[in-house]
Amino acid sequence: MKKEEIISVVEKHYLPVFTRQPVVFDRGQGAVIYDIDGKEYLDFFAGIAVSILGHNHPALVAALSRQSAKLIHTTNIFYTEIQANLVKKLVDLSGLDRVFLANSGTEAIEGAIKLARKYGLKNGGKFKIISALNSFHGRTLGALAATGQVKYHKGFDPILSGFEYVDFNDSAALKSAFDDETCAVLLEPIQGEGGIIEAHEEFLKTAADLCSQNNALLIFDEIQSGIFRSGKPFCWQHFGIKPDIMTIAKALGGGFPIGAILCNEKVAAAIDKGDHGSTFGGGPLACAAAVSVLDTAEELKLDKKAQELGGYMMGKLRDLKKEFPFIKEVRGKGLLIGMEIDKDGSAVVKKALEKGLIINCTSTKVIRFCPPLIIGKEDVDKMITILKESLR
Ligand SMILES: Cc1ncc(COP(=O)(O)O)c(C=O)c1O
Repeated sequence: MKKEEIISVVEKHYLPVFTRQPVVFDRGQGAVIYDIDGKEYLDFFAGIAVSILGHNHPALVAALSRQSAKLIHTTNIFYTEIQANLVKKLVDLSGLDRVFLANSGTEAIEGAIKLARKYGLKNGGKFKIISALNSFHGRTLGALAATGQVKYHKGFDPILSGFEYVDFNDSAALKSAFDDETCAVLLEPIQGEGGIIEAHEEFLKTAADLCSQNNALLIFDEIQSGIFRSGKPFCWQHFGIKPDIMTIAKALGGGFPIGAILCNEKVAAAIDKGDHGSTFGGGPLACAAAVSVLDTAEELKLDKKAQELGGYMMGKLRDLKKEFPFIKEVRGKGLLIGMEIDKDGSAVVKKALEKGLIINCTSTKVIRFCPPLIIGKEDVDKMITILKESLR
């Protein structure tokens, strides 16, 4: 099919939920992705913070090929070695005790909500989950209820009850919302979709203290901030504030769909056989992808790389403020970076795309950069050159 035909088939038959750019991608290599006509794009979006190894990384391709030639699917009624390898790896990296494997971020959140509710039930009949305004936790009904943005709730009433929202980084509001019905506090260490807003250490500490003093659970949603992107395997490791439950997804499979819930033994003790499940979750291909991503990320020290290159890139982005006074702030951690401007960012994103750079705008005015972690300084320099032209 030619480009125009592909776009018209998708526009005609796909559910009209996405606002898409008129580009048809065909193949990728490293930090570069090519469209169907062979035009090259520098990818500083990585499919929404997913492809940390870049496109077609040989280790990931080999792991998927090897596993698909051996066994693509079985069920959780049986064991596989590759699942054991992944579970062990996640436990070692996080210091948490238990893992449940799902297929997406939303699904991991959905499971985390169930764990919190079950724990609450067994610990005084508590059910309320406090999350933050401006958060994003996913699109299924539980995850939607946890998401503190009314625009995502609209049209889907009645929204699941038992959720309360407080201003992000407002410790006093969190303290006053927390009561004896609260079973969990759910937070992103960096609000991603909300505009790359970092949690203050003091706010996370308040949440952790409230939870530990009142036998409630601290849940960190690391779906966007986790897996080496922030400069540590998980963003909470910058603060040393360990959650009871953590959700991860996105970068975990390097592009292969997988999500995970990790928790401590205290949480696991509240769960009974049959409480949760999944046909595909923890399947051999997804596990092979994730093991390969985590091994490669460790081998290439992608956490250190994200930290160093993130610092370099933030410096370069801040330099742009001199020429472009409409840039308000550059913020983020590692290679999860937001540049807030005082106008709608979609025109900048469109212009950059025309010039061969993929970036994205979130929360209307925040240009988001979440490139593959395998990029080099030369990629950052090239990105800055195209971005400058686009900003002009
Ligand atoms: C912090 C956070 N939680 C949950 C989700 C939902 O993940 P998924 O799109 O894989 O369902 C996202 C997706 O952007 C996210 O950024």
